[in-house]
This record gives sequence, C-alpha cells and structure tokens, in this order.
Amino acid sequence: MTALLEVDAISKRFGGLHAVSAVSFAVVKNTISAVIGPNGAGKTTLFNLITGFLSPNDGHVRLAGRDITNAPPFKIAAFGAVRTFQLVRLFPEMSVIENLVVGAHLGTRGGVWSAIFRPPWAREQMRATETKGRQILELVGLAAHADVIATTLTYGQQRLLEVARALAAQPKLLMLDEPAAGLNHAETKELAQLIRRIRDGGTTVLFIEHDMNIVMSTAERVVVLDFGKKIAEGTPEEVQKDSKVLEAYLGGI
Ligand SMILES: Nc1ncnc2c1ncn2[C@@H]1O[C@H](COP(=O)(O)OP(=O)(O)OP(=O)(O)O)[C@@H](O)[C@H]1O
Ligand SMILES: [Mg+2]
Repeated sequence: MTALLEVDAISKRFGGLHAVSAVSFAVVKNTISAVIGPNGAGKTTLFNLITGFLSPNDGHVRLAGRDITNAPPFKIAAFGAVRTFQLVRLFPEMSVIENLVVGAHLGTRGGVWSAIFRPPWAREQMRATETKGRQILELVGLAAHADVIATTLTYGQQRLLEVARALAAQPKLLMLDEPAAGLNHAETKELAQLIRRIRDGGTTVLFIEHDMNIVMSTAERVVVLDFGKKIAEGTPEEVQKDSKVLEAYLGGI
C-alpha cells in the first residue's frame, strides 16, 4: 500500500473564510479515489492546493514521497499530478489532436511554447507525441474525431478531450474536477468505464464528483468535505451510511 499522494493537515483561508481546514488524506497508488461534499465544501480549493494553483496557509503535500508544497503548477504537472478543471478549458481554435499535443508538452522540454511555435528540435518530439496522442484518443473513444476543431465536439466529447489532454501529459496521478458534470446518463456510464480503464493502465485517479452513481461504481476510497473540513473517509458504502455525511447533504436541502 504505497501512498502516491499524501495531503497533510492542509489549510487555506480566503480572508475570514476557512475554505480548507487541516485536511489530511492519502491516495494509494493504482487506486481510484473520490472527493465529495456539498457546493462550496472546498473540493476545488483542495485540488488547487495539491496542484499548486493556490498556496496553502498551512500543511504539506507529497507526491511519490517528494514534498511538492508551494511548487508551481507546471512543476507539479511534470512531477506527475495533472488535473482537469471544473469548466471546460480547451484551445477552441485547435483540432482535437492539437489540443492533445499541446497538453502533452506541458510537461516536456520547452513546455507549451515549443508546441505552439514548433522550433526544429521540437518537431520530432511532436511527431512522437502525436502518435501517442492518437492512442489516447482511441482509449477515450475520440479517435474518429482527431482532426476536427475542438469546439465542434459535443459537450460530453469536449469533457472527454480534457481527460485525454491530461492523460497526454502521462500523469502518475490524474485529478478530475467534476468530470461527469453536464454529461447524460449514457455518457456518465462511459466515463465510469474510462476511469476504470485509466486506473487499469497504471494511472492513479482522484476525482471530485456530485454524481453519486459514478462515485459508487468506481471509487475505492471516498473523502467527504463539508465547510472545508474532512467529515468522513472510507469506502463508498461506509461514507454513504455515515451520519455526518447524511447530515451534511440533508442539511443543504
Ligand atoms: N479565490 C477565492 N477567493 C475567495 N473565496 C474563494 C476562492 N475560491 C473559493 N472560494 C470560496 O471557498 C469556498 C470553497 O470553494 P470551492 O470552490 O473549493 O468549493 P467546491 O467544493 O469546489 O464547490 P462546488 O461543488 O460548488 O464546485 C467557497 O465558499 C468559495 O466561495
Ligand atoms: Mg468545485
């Protein structure tokens, strides 16, 4: 049971608001974990703290044993923690495969600029990345759409492309912020299968979700946040029965 990610008493305050309060948990390598909690519970803030988009006021984050607290996002991505965002953030003018190639280069020599401006030394690297990118599109079910402009995809397909783009950076830990938001029932089922395939391929997955079906059908561990605090942690069955969790959700109605 090796912990890939260790979050140790991490806190973030926005003025007087305790968005994340002394939250600790670990994600075991090759598992699927979920972070759940009512709106405003601190889930996205927690992801921002892990991936370097925000600096914590207190606490530490370790990835594969390395302290990544306060490292910038591009370094954390290069170390292996790659995330998607709650709202779609694609390069709208680029094709599906181009979006992937740019995603992959976030963690390589020259970074995103070499992917866009293409100096000669970057071209060979890009060709290899494109081949890999097409394999990833195969995995997420978008291979037939590789050469269309990203914004012509359906919303559900655009969300899959975001997952694909994160995968193109070859993460150790893939972090998805509400990947099922806006997906229909069939798309959500496909996403659940995809998350399991990603884990089976050796990538650890941590995702935020409101959709309990996908949490129950994929996550091995669930961390529950409410008002910035971790109120429960365990298997989906355990947290579903937890009185504090029931209270947090029912209290919000
Ligand atoms: N940059 C910020 N500045 C000030 N307050 C913020 C900032 N980001 C988040 N917050 C506040 O911190 C709290 C936690 O927000 P966060 O976005 O982490 O919640 P969440 O659990 O992701 O919610 P949702 O399910 O709605 O996405 C909220 O009260 C939010 O308004
Ligand atoms: Mg959020």
